[in-house]
Amino acid sequence: ADADYEFKYVILGGRVAAGYAAREFFKQGVKRGELAIISKEAVAPYERVTLSKEYLLPNQPSRLPDFHVCVGSGEERQLPEWYTDKGIELILSTEIIQVDLASKALVSASCQIFKYQTLIIATGSTPVRLTDFGVQGVDAKNIFYLREIDDADKLVEAVKAKKKRKAVIIGGGYIGLEVSAALRINNLDVTMVYLEPWCGPRLFTAGIATFYEAYYANKGIKIIKGTVAAGFTIDSDGDVKEVTLKGGRVLEANIVFVDVEARPLTSLFKGQVEEEKGGIKTDAFFQTSVPNVYAVGDVSTFPLKLYNEMRRVEHVDHARKSAEQAVKAIKASEEGKTIEEYDYLPYIFSRSFDLSWKFYGSNAGKRLLVRDNDPASGKQKFETFWIEKGKIIGAFLMNGTPQENDAIAKFARVQPGVDNLDVLKEELGLPSKEE
Ligand code: FDA
Repeated sequence: ADADYEFKYVILGGRVAAGYAAREFFKQGVKRGELAIISKEAVAPYERVTLSKEYLLPNQPSRLPDFHVCVGSGEERQLPEWYTDKGIELILSTEIIQVDLASKALVSASCQIFKYQTLIIATGSTPVRLTDFGVQGVDAKNIFYLREIDDADKLVEAVKAKKKRKAVIIGGGYIGLEVSAALRINNLDVTMVYLEPWCGPRLFTAGIATFYEAYYANKGIKIIKGTVAAGFTIDSDGDVKEVTLKGGRVLEANIVFVDVEARPLTSLFKGQVEEEKGGIKTDAFFQTSVPNVYAVGDVSTFPLKLYNEMRRVEHVDHARKSAEQAVKAIKASEEGKTIEEYDYLPYIFSRSFDLSWKFYGSNAGKRLLVRDNDPASGKQKFETFWIEKGKIIGAFLMNGTPQENDAIAKFARVQPGVDNLDVLKEELGLPSKEE
């Protein structure tokens, strides 16, 4: 079939990675009409992390255009005009439903055909729906997931409209924690439900989780652990009325928020490109197994040089940096040049209530909790170090100053040697305990 549109570069996906890739194309030099972003969403690329945080607050919530990329990294905000100005095509509200990497063509839901010379896949990830776990009554109204800005709008609408105001949050990861806090600030009655023995199980130690759970309890959030949602009951309007937990307990609920797991959006490319660990496999320049096809952000599985392993990372810092790396690599290869391999230091952050933490590096090995993790002490500041094979390899800091955050990032990158934990404890000169 003939192409309706043809571009030198196409970015498929329109959020974090796409926006940062566009900026890097602009920095490196791109001619008018050479680059297009194709996105299912109706708005220009934005910082997704806002959706579970400032977007949900009752007072002065964040709204577009406030959080278009690249405000998250302190750079120029790219409004729709920014793209027009640079001659970058923003093709919005356009879902691609078919991809043929061999003939370099993308087909949209309205049957338009887009051709490209170089493709950057930035389709990201999407929350797994409870439907996939065979839970009863999942079609009830007022069961929410957070994928796009539309989802956040629907949640906000429900929060504003509901009179009974009972919310159940399913999933104890950092997104569940953020949304719980936002709904509590909206004065809802909030109960969190999760299977694991403590919140943030993928990253948090018992010491970090103990702090969080006590802090949340003080804010009036109830926590039920060790169980999952087995089903929902629905009222005559089709709205959710109750959540039945495995084990039989029933919770009243007018709003349910679910964040249990995310899945990378790779299905369009199945069988056309190599995959690994659930993502699209790339090299250190985010080139996939198919020439001139790159994959960045949540969807890519790339070599994490620091730990000498292949990894997929679902965090915004990597979405930004991988996008920049891919564009630099594309531009360099056109000039017959090479660039340095991606050398990423994993970095995650989260904010809720007046808590803000950062984590750098790897959470393997022994753990040392430094300072005071009792929220009742009023300090709300502590760190945790992970120590493996005689080196500090990971660091978490609650409510650090920018300078302190830089310092822990450096630890995780440089991996200072620790012959003996007792010596380290003494050197720190602060209260600390092994976990
Ligand atoms: P992302 O998923 O953001 O974007 C994918 C884009 O592709 C979307 O625009 C989508 O519509 C489009 N798309 C997909 N398929 C398509 C198709 N077939 N046709 C057209 N378009 C298509 N991280 C962190 O470090 N700290 C934090 O505090 C948070 N907070 C946070 C909150 C919430 C609610 C979420 C969901 C996620 C976070 N994250 C986070 C994770 C972070 O937001 C995430 O890593 C990045 O958004 C990934 O960016 P990408 O651009 O790779 O994918």
